[in-house]
Amino acid sequence: MNQILRHLALAAELPVYGPSYALLQHLIRTPTPLDPEPTWQLVTRPLPAPLYWLWNHYPPALVRSLLLWWKLRQPHNVGIEEHYDVSNAFYELFLDKKFMFYTCADFVTGRETIEEAQTKKADFFLNLIQPKAGEKILDLGCGWGGMMRLIAETTGDRDGIVGYTLSKNQYAHVRERLGLNVELKNFITCAYEPLAYDKIYSIGSWEAVRPADLDMLVRKLHGALRPGGRMVHHFFTHPGDAAPAMALPGQIFFPGSLPPGHTGFVRAFENAGFRIVHRSLHDYRPTLRAWFDNLAANRDRALELVGAYTYNRCLVFFPGAWMYFQDGNATLIRYVLEKV
Ligand SMILES: C[S@@+](CC[C@H](N)C(=O)[O-])C[C@H]1O[C@@H](n2cnc3c(N)ncnc32)[C@H](O)[C@@H]1O
Repeated sequence: MNQILRHLALAAELPVYGPSYALLQHLIRTPTPLDPEPTWQLVTRPLPAPLYWLWNHYPPALVRSLLLWWKLRQPHNVGIEEHYDVSNAFYELFLDKKFMFYTCADFVTGRETIEEAQTKKADFFLNLIQPKAGEKILDLGCGWGGMMRLIAETTGDRDGIVGYTLSKNQYAHVRERLGLNVELKNFITCAYEPLAYDKIYSIGSWEAVRPADLDMLVRKLHGALRPGGRMVHHFFTHPGDAAPAMALPGQIFFPGSLPPGHTGFVRAFENAGFRIVHRSLHDYRPTLRAWFDNLAANRDRALELVGAYTYNRCLVFFPGAWMYFQDGNATLIRYVLEKV
């Protein structure tokens, strides 16, 4: 986008979408690649009190709801493809090499590398799932298949596990590079065979489930599990029910997705008949900083692969998301649920 159009877009978006959305978009649309560290500092700096208030309260709740409703009218796959189907090689530049997890790692001491922290997360998660050979296991939103591969290696059973994704690039990676069962399927709208699975898990996929679909999906998953079956989920969510103002700029990065509030999750799990047997909180911020550093270190290759707009969008997304957690807008939670 040239500079004149970029400034016109800012003038048009500011009064409608508010400063957080309009200014982040303006930054991303810089026609040249952004400088990493100044960008981090700019996005995470403390704002003067009046701007901070506007950042978090403008546009007012009713306008915000209308804008979100408008943005959420598109089919799920459109936003997923826009975010993920840019280039697998681009994601390889900043994610950990072993799992290619695009979700929060476990930095326990704060001194781990991203590789070590993602391995800790994978082991923690494996322990929650407790997979066994012969079980039928479903991964909702399997990404590049790292967790599926670990489960298959642990149980020695590659046939029992299947992953769903809406990203064509991820689908190709899991099928061709890992040789695992994967389907290009919308886990929200698809039908599930009753009592088909022993375990269902997800890592970072409930963020794509819109609040209106939450109860329906949890009930479908309950029906798909065998008695005694277990669900394990890792997702971030905001407190209460109402979407925070920062849900609007979230549309820049994950168009068409709106994470439900925490209250809604607990209600949906319990109403469907699940017993909550584990809940733990985790800190997303070190992972976001590690991805940011990796992307900055691989700047030239990233620009060759995806160009300035997508590079800038990621470079703004990581500090933007860091602030989202820093300000207490959202928390990363893991749940284990049992079908009694
Ligand atoms: C943040 S990524 C996490 C991927 C992986 N679980 C990980 O830990 O790296 C979210 C994943 O959810 C998938 N996803 C989101 N909405 C989906 C939907 N409605 N149906 C199927 N997959 C979906 C995306 O394609 C992507 O694979």
